[in-house]
Amino acid sequence: MYNYIIKGGKRLYGEVDVSGSKNASLPILAATIISGKISKIYNLPEIDDVKTTLEILKFLGAKIKKDKNKVIINTKNINKTEIPDELMRKLRSSVIIAGALITRFKNVKFTYPGGCDIGSRPINLHLESFEKIGIKITENCRYIECKCDKIESKNIVLEFPSVGVTENIILASILGDHEVVINNAAREPEIIDLVNFLNKMGAKIYGAGTNTIRIKAVKTLNDVSYKIMSDRIEAATLLIAGAITGGTIKVNKINPEYIGALLEKLKETGCNLSVNKDSVYLRAPQRLKAVDINTMPYPGFPTDMQPMFSTMLTLAKGNSLIKENIFENRFKYLQELKRTGIKITEIDSKTVIIKGVRKLHHTELEGTDLRGAASMVLAGLATKGTTRVSKLEYLLRGYEGLDKKLNQLGACVLREEGD
Ligand code: EPZ
Repeated sequence: MYNYIIKGGKRLYGEVDVSGSKNASLPILAATIISGKISKIYNLPEIDDVKTTLEILKFLGAKIKKDKNKVIINTKNINKTEIPDELMRKLRSSVIIAGALITRFKNVKFTYPGGCDIGSRPINLHLESFEKIGIKITENCRYIECKCDKIESKNIVLEFPSVGVTENIILASILGDHEVVINNAAREPEIIDLVNFLNKMGAKIYGAGTNTIRIKAVKTLNDVSYKIMSDRIEAATLLIAGAITGGTIKVNKINPEYIGALLEKLKETGCNLSVNKDSVYLRAPQRLKAVDINTMPYPGFPTDMQPMFSTMLTLAKGNSLIKENIFENRFKYLQELKRTGIKITEIDSKTVIIKGVRKLHHTELEGTDLRGAASMVLAGLATKGTTRVSKLEYLLRGYEGLDKKLNQLGACVLREEGD
């Protein structure tokens, strides 16, 4: 177990670089399975979710050479098509490995990924979409088996612009002699990064970033070298750390286009922003103004930024209305934050009103999930006195050295090995 001991109440200042994107890395690592060749990947974040994905690739038979943020993966000798239960449980988003195995081996076996702390995380839309393109699904209480002779040329419409389902259908459709069109596709930047990676390997995919994506299957893919995009959710976390502490910071190596909804809302709270090609400079106001948040699929306000942004609003002047439309259990962190003296009114499971207070009380906090843990850290930064945040294994799933990055901005965060 890990804890952060945070001596809060300091305004952050200075510059920091953002690491590679967790949510682009996971599907891109899955995609390396398809070529059976060598993929050199740079700017890979050193986080636990990447470690687990590499463990799965190794289990399947891939040869992996890793050196910090660079990895060379040779998937020629992959000879298994069953994802082990304990690894599925460790990383629910590994369901997208199914798509990559299906397109190459025409079958895959895996267990239900299980829910996580922000919701039940069903995979029904993954399985329904697989069936629409000709994949036969056999389910029993222990595992799911997907088989197909060949993927069928189909024009499918997603019930919901699911990120994982869009990625899984793209991966499942890469090899063959068919053409698949996904309508109502998710538009997240991580999907653009996945498609750029696949097209660099020789795939033929059009329309990434729009809600209609066309995949023209090919016979083979080639060796590739690729640099992962930067993590827009980490960039948001760092910018919000500057805002919640009344600081003046610059976040580098981020594409501001990918965090447009966040920047709009930060401006509404009174933050002064200056945006360059690959960086954002933020100067916080004396006191933040309350704003309303309504999470939506990209390019709307991202659900992954809601916990950190709402935590910042607990100190804003006025009432903020927060509507979480994507995950059914993404306010859990607020129950933990009540220990600091925040004032919230729960309207229903998707809606809360945050009444801003002048200051928070330092206390002991526990991480509740990945972005919930990040929110506890932000609360600690904004609170005079010492805050201990425990259960940080959640945080290590998605943030590379967040303590180091915050200390580079003048924070005082000590990582302690807990019991
Ligand atoms: C991806 O999850 C991200 N994870 C999530 O980030 C992110 O919150 C989410 O997209 C939305 O942007 C990765 O990319 C690894 P969805 P994903 O399918 O693909 C429901 C983080 O903090 N749904 O777009 O699982 C689902 O329950 C993580 O980095 C079904 O009902 O998200 C949810 O309510 C958290 N059935 C909604 O769709 C399905 O078969 C959005 O899910 C699939 C999804």
